[in-house]
Amino acid sequence: MKTLDLIFLGFGNVGREVSRLLWSNREEFARQGLSTRAVAIVTGRHGTLVDEGGIDLLAAAANDRFPGRQSALDVITSVRADVVLELTTLDVRSGQPAISHAEAALRSGKHVVSANKGPVAWAYHEIMEIAQSNGRMFLFESTVMDGTPVFNLAQHCLRGARVTGFEGVLNSTTNFVLDEIASGSAFEDAVADAQRRGVAEADPSMDIDGWDSAAKVAALANVLMGARTNPLAVSRVGIGGITRQDFARAARRGETIKLVCRAWRSQEAGAGEDRRPGDVRPGEADGKIQMTVAPEQVPRGSLLATVRGTSSVLVVKTDLMGDIGIVEQDPSLWQTAYGVVSDLIEIARRTQ
Ligand SMILES: NC(=O)c1ccc[n+]([C@@H]2O[C@H](COP(=O)([O-])OP(=O)(O)OC[C@H]3O[C@@H](n4cnc5c(N)ncnc54)[C@H](OP(=O)(O)O)[C@@H]3O)[C@@H](O)[C@H]2O)c1
Repeated sequence: MKTLDLIFLGFGNVGREVSRLLWSNREEFARQGLSTRAVAIVTGRHGTLVDEGGIDLLAAAANDRFPGRQSALDVITSVRADVVLELTTLDVRSGQPAISHAEAALRSGKHVVSANKGPVAWAYHEIMEIAQSNGRMFLFESTVMDGTPVFNLAQHCLRGARVTGFEGVLNSTTNFVLDEIASGSAFEDAVADAQRRGVAEADPSMDIDGWDSAAKVAALANVLMGARTNPLAVSRVGIGGITRQDFARAARRGETIKLVCRAWRSQEAGAGEDRRPGDVRPGEADGKIQMTVAPEQVPRGSLLATVRGTSSVLVVKTDLMGDIGIVEQDPSLWQTAYGVVSDLIEIARRTQ
């Protein structure tokens, strides 16, 4: 079995959890054809560690600082490795520097696994073209709903069917905060509670204002629907200002409030073109796929209403298989790490 040499770009929550998962389940992963060795760890402000003889990941995960100073691009181009793990901080307004990292890695002959939504939300088709022309893989299962097989389901299990749209509740923090408000909390108290429990960041605006959801919508639209879009093109309303009175009004109609992500093809919404639903190819989709993130009142018995707390749900709409719902129940970092490892297993299987 070939051992995959890994470069970790970013070694925060996800990078460390991937390290722990690779170690603790190494025997089962070996049975799946995956053997790994870390050869570099790069952080933003906490230094860099390069050892082409192999890094003790568990020891590294217990460290806060590393002695080296090389940048991510230096390490990508100078260190021999099979896979670059793009686990750096998301910049939702540009997708950078993760896009440059992914492109440089593929051009230097390395596969890329990204948990960072930036590359897939901003530059999916461009990066796939570079991957294909270099005979390398670009995989990103953990970017939406952590390790839940969303992209893999659509790409591997729905062959011949077309995704005509999707709807979902895809952000844990806002779902948690809305549940707290529904139970009687004020908005500020609900956010503070989410921060205390580690569900919300110190700066929760990325979630509260709908940016994280918009990045997920753009990523899903690019991959599942052939859009060439980005998070700025998603019509976005956050959950700021929602009160328990709003929930009381919704409850009187048998409804609740969720931050709902949607995408659909506009010709299906009455634009009048004589086309089969889903008849849009990559690159043709601009202006024809509508995308929204907004608080919506949804019937209490609906699938969107059933996810509580930090859970998520995605309903993928298809022409041949109707609607398919996927729920992720109470995820932790472990699920995100699994998404990364499942991509590594895919690379290992396809390169043996
Ligand atoms: N946490 C989750 O459950 C989850 C789930 C799905 C996807 N994701 C995505 O996974 C990625 C990592 O998340 P996380 O929770 O691990 O974040 P995190 O704990 O904040 O760690 C981010 C890491 O990236 C490093 N970094 C930032 N800019 C860099 C640069 N230019 N070059 C090299 N390293 C850089 C940081 O280094 P310094 O600390 O030194 O700045 C840190 O090591 C993010 O894109 C996130 O959106 C996270």
